[in-house]
Amino acid sequence: MRAVVYDRYGPPEVLRLEEVARPLPTENEVLVRVRASTVNRLDVHTREANVKSGLVVSLLSRLVSGLGQPRQPILGSEFAGEVAAIGSAVTEFVVGDRVFGNTGLRFGTNAEFVSVPESGRIARMPTGMSFEAAAPATDGALNALWCLRLADVKKGEKVLVYGASGAIGTAGVQLAKYFGAEVTAVCNTKNVDVVRSIGADQVIDYMKEDFTKNGLSYDVIFDAVGKQSFKRSKGSLKPGGFYLATDGFRNLWLALWTSRFGDKKVIFKLPPRYTKQDVLLLKELLETGKFRAVVDRCYPLEDVVDAARYVETEQKTGNVVLSLEQ
Ligand SMILES: NC(=O)c1ccc[n+]([C@@H]2O[C@H](COP(=O)([O-])OP(=O)(O)OC[C@H]3O[C@@H](n4cnc5c(N)ncnc54)[C@H](OP(=O)(O)O)[C@@H]3O)[C@@H](O)[C@H]2O)c1
Repeated sequence: MRAVVYDRYGPPEVLRLEEVARPLPTENEVLVRVRASTVNRLDVHTREANVKSGLVVSLLSRLVSGLGQPRQPILGSEFAGEVAAIGSAVTEFVVGDRVFGNTGLRFGTNAEFVSVPESGRIARMPTGMSFEAAAPATDGALNALWCLRLADVKKGEKVLVYGASGAIGTAGVQLAKYFGAEVTAVCNTKNVDVVRSIGADQVIDYMKEDFTKNGLSYDVIFDAVGKQSFKRSKGSLKPGGFYLATDGFRNLWLALWTSRFGDKKVIFKLPPRYTKQDVLLLKELLETGKFRAVVDRCYPLEDVVDAARYVETEQKTGNVVLSLEQ
């Protein structure tokens, strides 16, 4: 099968398209013929061994992914495709089912085939949905779901999503609305329309207004892009409010500190845990129109290096899809 492989950590250019052996599903696995996948920030961080986050984080990253070289040569965690074969003990799926999901740190989806445990994060795709629309529906959304649940976001609460135009941010806006919150989204001028189109109640253009200086306060500030700080956001949190982090080693210490001191808390819990139930919830939200994955660009698999370069700009709006359709 064709797959995007890499055998050393480094820039997008370490990625190359190659013929490799097709995975064989074990008795509890489903073999998926991948029709669409994505390049996301998890792929970028893993491929670079998190070098930009400093020595300690880079070492931790290598401990997870392979010390000297990557243990899993195929990146990609999101997939949408068709069931090509099933293991002897699989009961939920049949050959030909259209499925989508997320392999997480097992990766392997930037390839024509991937094996996924039946009990893993895999579900049937909503009827009528394209592979390109389903493939990017899990990474940002599972991240956002994990964070918002940790803050126990409730109906009527005021939630500010900072970095509302990224993969996590676009999902965060929609999921916070699903939990019944009143959502203020913060993004760049060029993304105001798209962020409004996914249901934000208020949109703040950070090029024109600084939310920390407008006198308003929130129950939850969700830094969906890792560009804010608790220090700057604290004054805009209501007493008892939560600052949700998605990035930054310092937030681990702040989470520990604020769990004991002060009434405004930082939440940053690693590693995130996602379940099959979460993917089933996303399926339901996709079906009922409460959630859609925002797609910025779609590249053919062959152009994976260009796709990875674009994701690295940290400027994408929503998600970048890789298409494996002929
Ligand atoms: N997705 C994952 O699986 C994953 C895994 C591990 C860690 N993370 C971390 O989670 C964070 C978000 O990930 P993501 O995948 O959602 O990111 P992303 O999609 O790459 O975020 C891109 C968006 O961030 C916005 N942005 C960039 N700089 C900004 C700033 N200073 N203020 C406000 N918005 C800004 C960009 O819009 P403008 O440039 O127009 O503002 C762009 O729309 C990142 O820090 C990432 O490292 C993500």
